[in-house]
Amino acid sequence: MLVTEQQRLKDDIGRWVQRYGAQRSALIPVLQEIQAKYSQVSEYAMQEAADHLGIHPVEVYSVVTFYAFLAEAYQGKFVIRLCRTISCDMAGKTRVARQLENDLGITFGQTTKDGKFTLEWANCIGMCDQGPALLVNDHVFTSVTSEKVHDILELCRKSFGPLAVHDNRHEEARQ
Ligand code: FES
Repeated sequence: MLVTEQQRLKDDIGRWVQRYGAQRSALIPVLQEIQAKYSQVSEYAMQEAADHLGIHPVEVYSVVTFYAFLAEAYQGKFVIRLCRTISCDMAGKTRVARQLENDLGITFGQTTKDGKFTLEWANCIGMCDQGPALLVNDHVFTSVTSEKVHDILELCRKSFGPLAVHDNRHEEARQ
């Protein structure tokens, strides 16, 4: 990470800590802000957050690794989380998974080279009677079939704004 990027991240964290308060309870909102703007919570970001909040970096690391919505690695603009829990599994999540992997040319846990899509597994998202279910960022899709995968990806590509939680902030973060 370049020095200017580090400085920008440090300044951002400082602002967010001011907004949420320099206390332990601010940790998750601050991490969410980092994730939204930078599409990841890097080691440097964890260290900075820990310094600003006066907590041990190991504690920050364990929060980041515990919550699926925070990621140490860079994530795409659209994070697709396919439920792999039993009802969705029985409803055909494997076919949906294969289709997603084929269409995007990546496997689960990876991000496309253009930085648009990340594939991840999720545990039950509460749509068990309408499986297979998946999330695109915070938008739920149910009864997903292989055919529907194509439509969902098209929708993402076309409606680049509405479903994208990161807007174009993550492009800024990558510059
Ligand atoms: S098992 Fe997939 S949503 Fe509950």
